[in-house]
Amino acid sequence: MAIASVFEVVVPGSIWVTERPIWFSGVRMRTRTTVVRLSGDALWVHSPCTPTDDVCAALDALGEVRWIVVPNRWHHLQAPATAARYPDAHVVGPVSAQSRNPHVSLTMGTDDPAYVQSTPELIPVQPRGVPFLDETVFFHPFSGSLIAADLLISACARDHWSWRIAARIWGRYGKIRTPPDVRMYTRASTAVAESIAQIRALPLQRILVAHADPITDRPVQQLAEAWNFAIPSHPGQ
Ligand SMILES: [Fe+2]
Repeated sequence: MAIASVFEVVVPGSIWVTERPIWFSGVRMRTRTTVVRLSGDALWVHSPCTPTDDVCAALDALGEVRWIVVPNRWHHLQAPATAARYPDAHVVGPVSAQSRNPHVSLTMGTDDPAYVQSTPELIPVQPRGVPFLDETVFFHPFSGSLIAADLLISACARDHWSWRIAARIWGRYGKIRTPPDVRMYTRASTAVAESIAQIRALPLQRILVAHADPITDRPVQQLAEAWNFAIPSHPGQ
C-alpha cells in the first residue's frame, strides 16, 4: 500500500495527515490523524485512526511509531487499538481521557518532563480554562504548524451535506470557530484569554485541527476571532 494512498503530505518530510468520516451527534464530519516525523525517524501520531493494515503499512514506511497522542478527553477512540498494534510506543494524553475510556492506558501526560524532553521538535501548550476539552496543542517550530484536535472547527464544500447544514445553523460553514459544544461549555475567563494569547504569540503559519482543512489563511487572526468570546469583559471574570 503506497503512503500516498493513505496519507496526504502537509509539510514534506515532516507532517502528514489522513482523514476519515465520523458520525457525531447525527452529522457526518471528517476527522483527521496527523503524523509528525521526529529525529531518528520516530513517528508521533496525533489522534490516531483505526490501525488498518493499509494505515500501518503507510506508517511503517514513514518511520517507527514511537508516540501515540491522545490530544484531549474526546479523541481517544482508536488509541487502544493503535497501542496494541505498536506495543513499544508510548501513549500520552490527559487522565480525563483514560477516565472516559478504560481501555486507554497512558504512559504519561503531555506535561511529563520525560515526554517533553523526548520530543523537542514539538512544544506542548495546555490551554487553561477549557476543562470540557482538557486539550494539549502542539507547536512544530520547524514548519510553524500548530497541531490540535478540537481547538477550532469549520465546514466547507468538501463536507457531507449533514454537517454542511448543521454548520450553517451553528455559524461554522466557511468560518473558523470553536466547536459548538466547546463554545457552550466554556466560560470567558482570564485563564482562557491568556492561553489563547500565548498560542497567538507563536509564529503560526498553519493550524491543523481534526475537523477542518488546514488553516493557512491568517491563522493567528482566525484563532483570535474564534476565541474572542472567551475574553472576559471585566478583568478577573
Ligand atoms: Fe473532535
